[in-house]
Amino acid sequence: MLSFENPAVRIENLTKTFGDHTVLNDLNFDIPRGKIVTILGFSGAGKSTLLKHILGLMHPTSGTISVLGENLANLSNVSLREFRQNFGMLFQYAALFDSLSALENVAFPLKEFTKLSKAEIEAKCHALLDSVGIQEISHNKLPSELSGGMRKRVGLARALALEPQIMLYDEPTTGLDPITTHMVNDLISSTSQRNKDRGMTSIIISHDVKATLRISDFVAFLDRGNIVEYLPAKDFANSTNELVQEFVNL
Ligand SMILES: Nc1ncnc2c1ncn2[C@@H]1O[C@H](COP(=O)(O)OP(=O)(O)OP(=O)(O)O)[C@@H](O)[C@H]1O
Ligand SMILES: [Mg+2]
Repeated sequence: MLSFENPAVRIENLTKTFGDHTVLNDLNFDIPRGKIVTILGFSGAGKSTLLKHILGLMHPTSGTISVLGENLANLSNVSLREFRQNFGMLFQYAALFDSLSALENVAFPLKEFTKLSKAEIEAKCHALLDSVGIQEISHNKLPSELSGGMRKRVGLARALALEPQIMLYDEPTTGLDPITTHMVNDLISSTSQRNKDRGMTSIIISHDVKATLRISDFVAFLDRGNIVEYLPAKDFANSTNELVQEFVNL
């Protein structure tokens, strides 16, 4: 199994049980800094549960989760909430505020969590929206006036506003048409490139093998609560693991 020096996320012997159902089973997993890592797996494998542990939204039955060198178990609820500012999250449905314009959506976390002036916030929001390919003419539109793909872009700009160390994508392309899917994958890739210098890490949960292999640096396969394969993306399709082969050839 791959391990990394000074990883963004280090998971050691993580077990999570609900009643007598073991969902994560003595799982070990390192996610390196500055890379795109995708977690693949069949429905019910435990992917979202794993993500919730990384965010500190769920607590392990046993084992440790360290994020950016910090053991999450050592953080109080208040510090944990603050610590989550290290994360940006893009949801399946962009989850924008319907009554706020694109620009106001992006401004929201900046107003909430920074001391920037109104003018500084506005300039930053325009720059963020530009960076994800939303043209000036649409900056003041409401979400209902934007296409699905544009809403995704605005959601991504908002997630990036506080310059997170780790971007999380849970099923970013599920339910999108093929062209928008392609666009979102390119956007994830270009966003990662653009934020590489400051060491931003991207973690993707996906069902989409083909796109994953194209844009990721490393791919992990989760099965019944365990990482059973973890390889550089270019080697993943040649995995000798039978389940991985089944998944890749679906
Ligand atoms: N809060 C909970 N209480 C009880 N069981 C849970 C809870 N959360 C998740 N589970 C169980 O854990 C298992 C894994 O769920 P999880 O949502 O992590 O799967 P997943 O890999 O994300 O699947 P999908 O691809 O369908 O999103 C499932 O059997 C689910 O029923
Ligand atoms: Mg899930």
